[in-house]
Amino acid sequence: MQRWGFGQPRFERFLQLGATVVIASRREAVLRSAADEMMASHGGTVVPIACDVRDPEMVEAMIERAWTQCGGVDGLVNNAAGNIAAPTERLSHRAVDSVLGIVLHGSMYCTLALGKRWLAAKRKGRVLSIVTTYAEGGSAYVVPSAAAKAGVLAMTRSLAVEWGGRGITCNAIAPGPFPTKGAWERLLPDPSLMDAAIDRIP
Ligand code: HXC
Repeated sequence: MQRWGFGQPRFERFLQLGATVVIASRREAVLRSAADEMMASHGGTVVPIACDVRDPEMVEAMIERAWTQCGGVDGLVNNAAGNIAAPTERLSHRAVDSVLGIVLHGSMYCTLALGKRWLAAKRKGRVLSIVTTYAEGGSAYVVPSAAAKAGVLAMTRSLAVEWGGRGITCNAIAPGPFPTKGAWERLLPDPSLMDAAIDRIP
């Protein structure tokens, strides 16, 4: 059986394949109801663990609990993200830190916490990081997100070389925006831009 950990609860396919799935985000009540919903629909085991990925001690505790409770972890999906769509000159340093903290530091903390364990145990591991289509080319009005996702992409490419020979694969995918209510309201406050945005999805 495979055990995978995620930043956000959208990974029912792994349950269907027989994995025990650990989901982590900040709000425990939301996590618990997501876990219950996923288990009711797909069976299997979903373990919710509250964690703010900006906090390295919380990440370490979350990974340790997942590792102990599941008898090791086989894979990690770095999916936690925060984004502020705004003219960059309006952002305070705290706004910048918030997005960089979630996306870049959070992905790095989770990857390091598991990578160290995999290497020490001489165990295989898989890291999948979710980036964006603008990680390579940048994007106006989402500058902290673009910078952070570019960092996650560089981390992925670097660790693919550094850890690949020791059984740890690192990959990233850039699927583009998903037209859910929450994402669209935040990322596309002007609905007249929707058709153009959909056309740009690879
Ligand atoms: C300017 C803003 C702001 C805004 C927050 N801030 N929103 N500044 N414009 N719209 C500032 C605040 O004033 C504050 O600075 C600082 O940011 C931190 O704000 P908090 O309220 O403490 O927020 P925090 O809990 O840190 O969370 C920030 C956040 C949140 C994570 C960005 O707004 C959030 O949850 N957003 C939704 C999550 C999200 O966007 N998910 C989708 C990601 S999709 P001061 O100086 O006042 O203290 C993605 C990929 C997109 O990233 C790919 C598309 C192709």
